[in-house]
Amino acid sequence: MQMASTPTTGDRFRQLIRSLTGISLPPSKVQMIDQRLRRRVVEYGLPDTEAYLEKLLAGELPQDELPRVIDLITTNTTSFFRESEHFDFLTGHILPDRLAKARAEGRKRFKLWSAASSEGAEAFTAAMVLEEARRKGAGFDYAILGTDISARMLERATAAIYADEQLTTVPRDLVTRYFLRADDPSMAGKARIVPELRARTRFRHLNLMDKSYAVDRDVDVIFLRNVLIYFDATDKEQVVDRLAGHIAKGGYLLVGHAESMIVRHPLLRQVKPTIFQKC
Ligand SMILES: C[S@@+](CC[C@H](N)C(=O)[O-])C[C@H]1O[C@@H](n2cnc3c(N)ncnc32)[C@H](O)[C@@H]1O
Repeated sequence: MQMASTPTTGDRFRQLIRSLTGISLPPSKVQMIDQRLRRRVVEYGLPDTEAYLEKLLAGELPQDELPRVIDLITTNTTSFFRESEHFDFLTGHILPDRLAKARAEGRKRFKLWSAASSEGAEAFTAAMVLEEARRKGAGFDYAILGTDISARMLERATAAIYADEQLTTVPRDLVTRYFLRADDPSMAGKARIVPELRARTRFRHLNLMDKSYAVDRDVDVIFLRNVLIYFDATDKEQVVDRLAGHIAKGGYLLVGHAESMIVRHPLLRQVKPTIFQKC
């Protein structure tokens, strides 16, 4: 009979992160964990990551240490107009489709949820293209919700200040229209999203592993991009199932290009490789 081996500190840490965030960290990620936690190890004057993790797991570090670890462990890569065909589909197809239905039902507000928003580039890209559609005469109102597990990313998203290098993927006319510069030296090389778009875009903490989400159940479109890849099969399925419950009938779910095969749900019909519509 094979005896179960005692879990190592690393195993227990990976298990903790999985249970808190859904993020699967295979043992091959040990070097990445080491690198990302280095600052914390130094901050506590500990000899190595192992010693730091032992203290963390024993509950010997301050209470706000765990959210910091989650901030460091999550991969927050994002950009404006990432997978830009989604934004073409949003204004070219989803918006007219949903507005026609909304008018028939006497509703006016278009609701979009960026369900792993990172520092807000996805939500504000949507805000820019929706605002452009409004400028061109489509009479509608919209509200955008961005949620994420990382407190640090949510702080950045709420501040809505981006470095010039991050604006290289934004068309020039949209940079002029939707980003503001200030003379303040602290804003050198940076620009801030205009108040009109910020007023329509809220960010808040939401862990996709939670059993239920305090979000409206008639959302027109959910962007769930480049986050399912970090979860294991059961969690992926459960997250999609919970989110499906928040999409209005006829509304849409968009996932990242690496994630199209993950979505299998009786109520979600695939209309394009990464785009699903709720029946
Ligand atoms: C790679 S970014 C993707 C950002 C954006 N959706 C995009 O495609 O550009 C993944 C985001 O998912 C967030 N995340 C990871 N696990 C999460 C969870 N359990 N609940 C909510 N957000 C989570 C991370 O903090 C990170 O900001």
